[in-house]
Amino acid sequence: MRLTVIGCGYVGLVTGACLAAAGHEVHCTDIDEKRIDMLKAGKVPIYEEYLDEVLKRAEAEKKIFYTADTGEAIRAGDAIFICVGTPPKESGEADLSAIDNAARQIAVHARSPKLVVEKSTVPALTGVQLQKALAAYSQSGDIKFDVASNPEFLREGTAVGDFFHPDRIVVGVENEKSAVVMREIYKPILEHKFHCPVHRGQCPAGTPGELLLTTINSAELIKHASNSFLALKISYANVISDLCERIGADVEQVTHAMGLDPRIGTQFLKAGLGFGGFCFPKDIQAFIHLAGTVGVDFEMLRAAENVNKQRIDRFFEKIHKALWVIRGKRVAVLGLAFKANTDDIRFAPALEVIRRLLEEGAEVHASDPEAMVKTRAVFPTVNYHEDPYEALKAADAALVCTEWKTFRELDWNRAGKLMARRLVLDGRNLYLPKKMQELGFDYHSFGRP
Ligand code: UDX
Repeated sequence: MRLTVIGCGYVGLVTGACLAAAGHEVHCTDIDEKRIDMLKAGKVPIYEEYLDEVLKRAEAEKKIFYTADTGEAIRAGDAIFICVGTPPKESGEADLSAIDNAARQIAVHARSPKLVVEKSTVPALTGVQLQKALAAYSQSGDIKFDVASNPEFLREGTAVGDFFHPDRIVVGVENEKSAVVMREIYKPILEHKFHCPVHRGQCPAGTPGELLLTTINSAELIKHASNSFLALKISYANVISDLCERIGADVEQVTHAMGLDPRIGTQFLKAGLGFGGFCFPKDIQAFIHLAGTVGVDFEMLRAAENVNKQRIDRFFEKIHKALWVIRGKRVAVLGLAFKANTDDIRFAPALEVIRRLLEEGAEVHASDPEAMVKTRAVFPTVNYHEDPYEALKAADAALVCTEWKTFRELDWNRAGKLMARRLVLDGRNLYLPKKMQELGFDYHSFGRP
């Protein structure tokens, strides 16, 4: 099928690349001409494992094309995926101006009927407005547009695998014609007709995720409801962690035992510095805001947001208790990205940790496998080290903020010899307290004795 992708950010590029790898002809466009030039030059503007490889293969097979000419891209596709950003406004409400602009572009440039697919994360009731906007902006009114909602559940760091092996594909449509088109688009994914770079053709057996057909309103709600529930689960684990510290229990054992009940599940119960990234924080805010506009007080989500914000306070209570005076201390910060396997630092807990350390007069030495360039732009006075052992040299304390494999496998015996003091504050519960104490470390983590 001939598809168009408007917005070559994270979601647009992964969606475009994977649908091209599934055999569709994909025309990508973006208002940022530099980004299109980069893509045309074979450079991928974001770090995401396997994405480069999938794009190269699709380019070689002449399945994916990039143009800054929005009109050309719009006319080239029968279905148009809107993948533009929907950042939060001050109020927490999602800013939908880029969606509105895309609707205008589509209405102005289309010369044949189109199925317009919401791929960006949008609050419920957006599809209704989008349908109206397409009709309003269409001068002739001759061309009919159908709208569909197709939320993504891609996680940064595993997005390509998540796209090819979805738990579910949610499709919100208002008529059977649109349903037929969406089924056609995802047929190769559901029938496993694509080359999977993650498993190199040895993909795990088992039934592919279900294509779930519903209404547009429900599909839009499913995205916010799912992300907010995952964030709620994390905050619940973090409150349990605080309880464990006061009662003298072990949060890792408590959440593991909870998760063995399939009604709860073991995932997303990891206590620590809390959630960051560009999804959970903004999706919670947008969901609370949406609920408020229809008279629903989403108190429990506001509580989850507060719990999450207080994780940094909890961490600094431990740092002050262990390190006493921070001014003039040399502190190593291991991990900057909001989670492992990404270079993304948006709403990353580590950035708030660094901001406070600098505010209190610490000398910060940081290390991260992928996120140092982006962090340097925010904190130019911090010392950055490719080699984590360099960051630990002469350090009075080490703070672990991101669960990178590199840090999980650090040789703390060697690190201990480099540090000025064997003091580790672990914001991601990466190590066994007993092991660290045997190595002579004053070791502090979340929710463990
Ligand atoms: C999330 C959703 O998982 C994905 O479905 C959606 O499409 C986009 O938002 P992402 O933001 O990439 O994906 O990250 P995710 O892996 O979900 O982690 C979110 C945050 O929660 C990270 O900061 C992570 O460190 C934190 N987290 C995750 C915990 O603190 N504890 C956990 O148990 C799991």
